[in-house]
Order: sequence, then structure tokens, then C-alpha cells
Amino acid sequence: MKKLVILASGSGSNAENIITYFKDRDVVQVTCVLTNKASAGVLKRCQRLAMPAFYFNRHAYDNGQLLKFLASQEIDFIILAGFLWKISEDIVNAYPNKIVNIHPALLPKYGGKGMYGSHVHEAVKANNETETGITIHFVNENYDEGNIIFQARTKISMEDTAETIAEKVHALEYEHYPKIIEKLLGNG
Ligand code: GRF
Repeated sequence: MKKLVILASGSGSNAENIITYFKDRDVVQVTCVLTNKASAGVLKRCQRLAMPAFYFNRHAYDNGQLLKFLASQEIDFIILAGFLWKISEDIVNAYPNKIVNIHPALLPKYGGKGMYGSHVHEAVKANNETETGITIHFVNENYDEGNIIFQARTKISMEDTAETIAEKVHALEYEHYPKIIEKLLGNG
């Protein structure tokens, strides 16, 4: 049984999708969800799904308490699903190639600090891109720069808005992220 933990800062629709995907698969266990935002929508989702969820603040993060917690849970993988803080060096070092993120664009384009959520889709629209997509990648010490594991693309038409682009990207995320995680964990 492989154990994973999900880190999320926002609505948590990807977190929910991953939890639901692995619910009936006894080879992978989502042990809990961790969030740095006390008001994050992901907490409500976890309540509904009966998934343990914990909030941690900046102090706990900076003092290595998150790392201690992860070690105590004996987890194999850390899955980022809309987690907005940079992963600290001690965590990156403790989990080499075991931390995975999903980015809502085709990296290396539209990545880096400040490029998250609607900012990404607005920038894609402003540049009249004809396609966008998702990037699933390992996490290193720099935002959105770890090795790319998987990308999927979707076309953008002139009529698309940042909102409809976001919907297309979310659809790709829901389709692919759980499957790629499953493969990485050696069960795909
Ligand atoms: C997703 O678009 C993901 O690619 C990005 O943050 C967003 C999170 O959305 N990293 P949600 O909270 O899973 O709904």
C-alpha cells in the first residue's frame, strides 16, 4: 500500500477528484489533506468526503513541523493540488522525486511566481495563444521548474475567455492527474 498526502490552498476540486479516484483502489491510500489556508474550500470538501484534513500556519511550516508530520505519517508521495506556497528546501531534500505538482499551462510557458489560477489563463488569453494545457512535474526548489512528467494540450479559439480556458484546463486535470499519480506510484 502506497501512501500519499495532498497539499492544497484553494477550492480543492483536484484534491476531491484524486481522493475519489483512489477511494476504491486498495493499492493507494490518500492519508490526509493539508492546507495552509484556514478558509480553503478544500476543507469543506474533505469534511463531506470524510477525509482527514489539517491546517498549518506559516510558523509551523517554517519551523519544520510539516516535515515532522509527513515523516510521522510514513508517506511515499506528496501531491500538490493548487498549493500556493513554495515547497521548502528541507521538504524537497527529504522527498527527492516524490513531490508532484500540476500546473495549469504548458510549462515552461506561463510558469513562475505569480502565475497561478486565473492569472495563468488571463495571460494565455492576452497573448492570443492557440493552445494551452496542463503540466504535471516533479517539484524542485524553484517554482514550476522541476522535471516534466506529463503534458496534455487543448485548443483555444478566438471565442474562448479566461473562464472557458480554465474550464478546458480543469477537464484535462481531472482526466489525467489521478492516472499519472497512479502510474508514478507503480500501480498504473
Ligand atoms: C488547478 O488549476 C491546478 O492546476 C493549479 O491550481 C488549480 C487548483 O484548482 N495548480 P482546484 O483547487 O483543484 O480546484
